[in-house]
Amino acid sequence: MWNALIDHESTGQILTAWFERCPLDQGKGSLKNSHHPRSEGTSSRFRIFGSESARWIQEQGGTVGSFDPGRSEADRGSGRAVLVTGAAGLIGVSVVRCLLRDGFRVVAVDDGSAGTLGRLVEFNGNPQVAVRISDIRHRVALAGLVAAERPWAVVHLAARHFIPDCERFPGETLEVNVMGTQHLLDACAEHPPHRIVFASTADVYAANVLPHSEDDAVSPVGAYGVSKLLGERLLRDQAYRLDGCTITIGRLFNVYGPGDPHPHLLPEVLRQLRNGSVLRLGDLESARDFVYVEDAAEALIALLHIGEAGVFNVGTGTAVSGRELVQTVAAVIGREVEIERDHGRLRRRVRPNLCAAPDRLRELVPWWPHVSFGGGIRYTVEAEFDEVVTGGEYAGRVS
Ligand SMILES: NC(=O)c1ccc[n+]([C@@H]2O[C@H](COP(=O)([O-])OP(=O)(O)OC[C@H]3O[C@@H](n4cnc5c(N)ncnc54)[C@H](O)[C@@H]3O)[C@@H](O)[C@H]2O)c1
Repeated sequence: MWNALIDHESTGQILTAWFERCPLDQGKGSLKNSHHPRSEGTSSRFRIFGSESARWIQEQGGTVGSFDPGRSEADRGSGRAVLVTGAAGLIGVSVVRCLLRDGFRVVAVDDGSAGTLGRLVEFNGNPQVAVRISDIRHRVALAGLVAAERPWAVVHLAARHFIPDCERFPGETLEVNVMGTQHLLDACAEHPPHRIVFASTADVYAANVLPHSEDDAVSPVGAYGVSKLLGERLLRDQAYRLDGCTITIGRLFNVYGPGDPHPHLLPEVLRQLRNGSVLRLGDLESARDFVYVEDAAEALIALLHIGEAGVFNVGTGTAVSGRELVQTVAAVIGREVEIERDHGRLRRRVRPNLCAAPDRLRELVPWWPHVSFGGGIRYTVEAEFDEVVTGGEYAGRVS
């Protein structure tokens, strides 16, 4: 994302030409999102996307500022509060970082059930972050929190989401993921925020080997997918209670990165590699759309900034098998690995392929995604593992 400065006198002329010719390399999304001018001295500031757009603006006499992942001043948080549930989780910490970077104040809510409250220590002493250890199943406490903070926006991440645990404890999964969401809705109905961004899942889709678009049929199997679809429906069905609030649902695919508290495939591979080079793993043939955690957080925050209601896939559009993931890790650390099948790790229900068609997200967030699969694996390995080979295919800049 770039900032373009165009002096007031030329603004009308340049914009007319822009809209007529649409010389953008990213299509409709760029056009849509460029349309937020803000007056700065004798110029207007716009957000633009894509190097073609930047070049074209310069040819017309505009000035293009440096790459600004923090978005234009017009969209920055200006100290407004965002309540983040599940803030200590894999995605939560990255979401808090993004919000702080964008100038928001953050009320970070988590009950510590994933065992990761320690991750919030990095915000100790930051006056822009208030940590509230609270369980979203406690309706009264949640209502009190929202009444006290009156957040401008809510990013709702708190959930039970490790599928084997959800299958083992379906009742608790529904209590947190469904009733917790209802409690949040009740609290917000009293003091509606301007935005709610809800982290749903690709697991809501009916199984299909083709990439999923948001209009695909939903038919989740298992407590987790069912609970998330119910969460989506509660938000949609009770939107009338949230006057002036835009509700955005991000259907996340497989998010990975440093700090995952659950024994998903990548953390498990890294854990086993600490003890040797023979890996005992379950199904490695199924393919998943892996999204690097910072990209996932950035996408959720971009959706929050843009304030477009609806459902958005947060997946890259490329599926990678478990075996390819293991091979990529092995390449990053420069080790030969041997794989043995662990039947105990096989899941009861397997989808052979789960991949996003992320066109809708890309229309609004044209940079999507920043981080390649190899790059994200390297970042994760570097953060969690001490044995990184610096040469080879994954050396250097990795996005
Ligand atoms: N990681 C993924 O691949 C993925 C994929 C699809 C959807 N999602 C969704 O994204 C969200 C965040 O996922 P994550 O990977 O960061 O998970 P995570 O388990 O790392 O984080 C969830 C956080 O919620 C907290 N939490 C759980 N129950 C709570 C409760 N009752 N009250 C308050 N806090 C509670 C946990 O302590 C944890 O810190 C979840 O809603 C998840 O369902 C994640």
